[in-house]
Amino acid sequence: MRSIEGSSGGELAGIRVAITGGTYGLGLELVREFTGRGAEVAFVARGRAGVEQIARETSRAHGIVGDVSKKDDIYPIAIQIVGALGGLDVLINNASDLGPAPLALLGDTDCEDLERALTVNVLGPFRLTKALLGSLAASARQGRGAVILNVSSDAAINPYPRWGAYGASKAALRHMTNIWDAELAGEGIRFLSIDPGDMDTPLHAVAVPDADPSELKRPAVSARELADEIASVLSELRMGQKPTVDDCLKGAA
Ligand SMILES: NC(=O)c1ccc[n+]([C@@H]2O[C@H](COP(=O)([O-])OP(=O)(O)OC[C@H]3O[C@@H](n4cnc5c(N)ncnc54)[C@H](OP(=O)(O)O)[C@@H]3O)[C@@H](O)[C@H]2O)c1
Repeated sequence: MRSIEGSSGGELAGIRVAITGGTYGLGLELVREFTGRGAEVAFVARGRAGVEQIARETSRAHGIVGDVSKKDDIYPIAIQIVGALGGLDVLINNASDLGPAPLALLGDTDCEDLERALTVNVLGPFRLTKALLGSLAASARQGRGAVILNVSSDAAINPYPRWGAYGASKAALRHMTNIWDAELAGEGIRFLSIDPGDMDTPLHAVAVPDADPSELKRPAVSARELADEIASVLSELRMGQKPTVDDCLKGAA
């Protein structure tokens, strides 16, 4: 059985990873971290110029232009992911929306801002995961393991004033992740909800313009931690895999 090591041992060769929002912020660092460890990566963002630039600059990274909040984009995105990678082992729902910017009290939040936060942060990951579940289940059945990481936030748990739209959407995403994990862990498909910490990214700059960037976490550090966690879960899944019919036949030969 092939082992998967964390950054110390250094490789995720052959692992097929899809990342939403890979052109800046945490998503870009995830693209760099996973390709740096040898994974094949497909990433999605709305801005064509950014997608093309990152795909050009990064070996083993396939860029896809799409908007996870648009229902009609989901199947084209999913088909391009599976087409580019030939299957899928890891999905990272990272792209996110802040809600009103600047942040606002709930009583001053427009319904459209709450709706957009829910659409990008909950419905988008739900639809994309459903569209890719067959490919992820195939990986699980083949003993490769399958992991879905829904990037969370401490705002999913703490009722921070002015973070209502974002916090409510992240709370829903976190709960949905845990329910999905309870439903599918037995099939070898694991769902993770992880808070990457307060990072120096464009999203954070919009949310907290007065923050001192030097006091914030580097997104590359969070990307390394998330990749370590995914590598560890994939490794556990592979260690616990049931033998396939092929394995039994090989053993008998
Ligand atoms: N930054 C923090 O301190 C912090 C703290 C806790 C949790 N988080 C979470 O960490 C994750 C990454 O945050 P970040 O700060 O790196 O965000 P960010 O700086 O806003 O990065 C956003 C990325 O997502 C893409 N994107 C945005 N909306 C999209 C959409 N509808 N469809 C497809 N792609 C889209 C953007 O490209 P385009 O604009 O070209 O689409 C870009 O590549 C998010 O889930 C966030 O909630 C962040």
